Amino acid sequence: MEKKLRSQQWFGKKGKDGFIYRAWMKNQGIPADEFQGKPVIGICNTWSELTPCNAHFRELAESVKRGVIEAGGFPVEFPVMSLGETLIKPTAMLYRNLVSMDVEESIRANPIDGVVLMCGCDKTTPALVMGACSVDIPAIVVSGGAMLTGKFKGKSIGTSDIWRFSEQVRSGIMSEEELNMAEAGMCRSRGHCAVMGTASSMACMVESLGLSLPGNAAIPAADASRKVLAQYSGRRIVDMVREDLKPSDILVRKAFENAIKVNAAIGGSTNFVIHLLAIAGRVGIPLTIDDFDRYSNGIPLIANLQPSGAHFMEDLYYAGGLPAVMKEMERFLEGECITVNGRSIAQNLERAETLNQEVIASVEQPFKLDSGVAVLKGNLCPEGAIIKPSAADARLMQHTGKAVVFENIEDYKLRIDDPELVVDADSVLVLKNTGPKGYPGMPEVGNMGLPKKMLDLGVTDMVRISDGRMSGTGFGTVVLHVSPETAENGTIALVKDGDRIELDVAGRKLSLLVSDEELDKRREGLADPVNQFKRGYARLYVAHVEQAHLGADFDFLKGNSGSEVLRDSH
Ligand code: FES
Ligand code: MG
Repeated sequence: MEKKLRSQQWFGKKGKDGFIYRAWMKNQGIPADEFQGKPVIGICNTWSELTPCNAHFRELAESVKRGVIEAGGFPVEFPVMSLGETLIKPTAMLYRNLVSMDVEESIRANPIDGVVLMCGCDKTTPALVMGACSVDIPAIVVSGGAMLTGKFKGKSIGTSDIWRFSEQVRSGIMSEEELNMAEAGMCRSRGHCAVMGTASSMACMVESLGLSLPGNAAIPAADASRKVLAQYSGRRIVDMVREDLKPSDILVRKAFENAIKVNAAIGGSTNFVIHLLAIAGRVGIPLTIDDFDRYSNGIPLIANLQPSGAHFMEDLYYAGGLPAVMKEMERFLEGECITVNGRSIAQNLERAETLNQEVIASVEQPFKLDSGVAVLKGNLCPEGAIIKPSAADARLMQHTGKAVVFENIEDYKLRIDDPELVVDADSVLVLKNTGPKGYPGMPEVGNMGLPKKMLDLGVTDMVRISDGRMSGTGFGTVVLHVSPETAENGTIALVKDGDRIELDVAGRKLSLLVSDEELDKRREGLADPVNQFKRGYARLYVAHVEQAHLGADFDFLKGNSGSEVLRDSH
């Protein structure tokens, strides 16, 4: 062992301190030789029955442990706060930074030499990666895998269908009874959302960054190979400790560029932007929102997966998984980037191949020429806003319409189906107060459903603008992450009913067509932003969260504090 293991500063000690560090561990039936210099591998587990997407993680962790033991390590599983998208109010995003702190401090404070990050439901991946990067000891991600494809009346369904179904129920095309049948058939197995939503995009992100073994992203949760991958990852982390292969060795600038390109080719989530920015901030890699436009430009959409396409994560696995996608687009990638297995991206792709061109297309004959995230600027979003053209209506990419303004989500819910609502198919729906500070936590409400009046007329898409996010499973002509947000008195706070708004995706512009004098006048009427929370985490959050275009991390969490062992406790 070249470098002294940090765990030996606990378990290798003599006298009273060493006695305390070892003796209590032995109540778990651990023999003395486990403490004598084996790499201690933390298994950072986000298992929770309140996070259904991660509910199988204790079992999966057993496979990781088996691998750790085989390779001569000493596995110790520990819990961190878990974040499930479906149950947590007001939004799991409010707690992403909190979990990252939990992860960072848990790793640093304990006798851990390397860590396996058990990631599944959306926020659990960025939170764990952010935390681990801020300690920078060897780390490998094991994703939980997606659910098997849902079934309803013989058709394949997934999370993206929820948005369709709810509009069909509102316009009377679908009955409540049918909706109940769909509910019973959608989540067929363990695992996270079965489409290329945020969880799957995050699993692809870690694989393209090099933070997981190749193939990690697409193996279904219910497939036996998922456990095999977990066991391999357990073996590998022990060697990573021996090699001292750390996140900072893997997460170089070019790795981030690769991740952006891959996210474009798969039609990945818009939430990818905010999470990758936050991770880059922890590693100290300068990455800006403009980089997402720059590096996804020219990358075609080659994965035919919902919500941008037709198929599901299970299909991606059978078609060759993410390695096959990356192989198809290899000419765009920085192949020399190193990954957790010690091999480069190019080496990992040597044997990758596409097994179904219905699901993974070639770069020459892609499903769509345009992919990725377009970054908009303009007086309505001076610091930026984003839109995902592959999931939007091509007809609306250049559009001018009158604003229909909702002050907040409650106002929207109250009035959206009001027959008196002044709206037409060309209107632009604007939702305020859904930003990081304003909600707080930046919820996934940006893909707000269309007014019933418009659904009845057969309208299927309208321009929607907010300072919030949308689910990675969402779609539509939805402008998100408008920065600065309403609560920071960004221009979006000034929009009034009837104002004309111009969206020009090709020109990367989003403009409020109101004169500067008028906007200045309106701005004078705004009160200064205040933190309305008197205590607790929400107060800390609002005081320190940065704007969306910077990744919505806390200002004091940027960078890393290293893995130095802290002072003794007794
Ligand atoms: Fe957990 Fe979609 S709700 S991944
Ligand atoms: Mg989500």
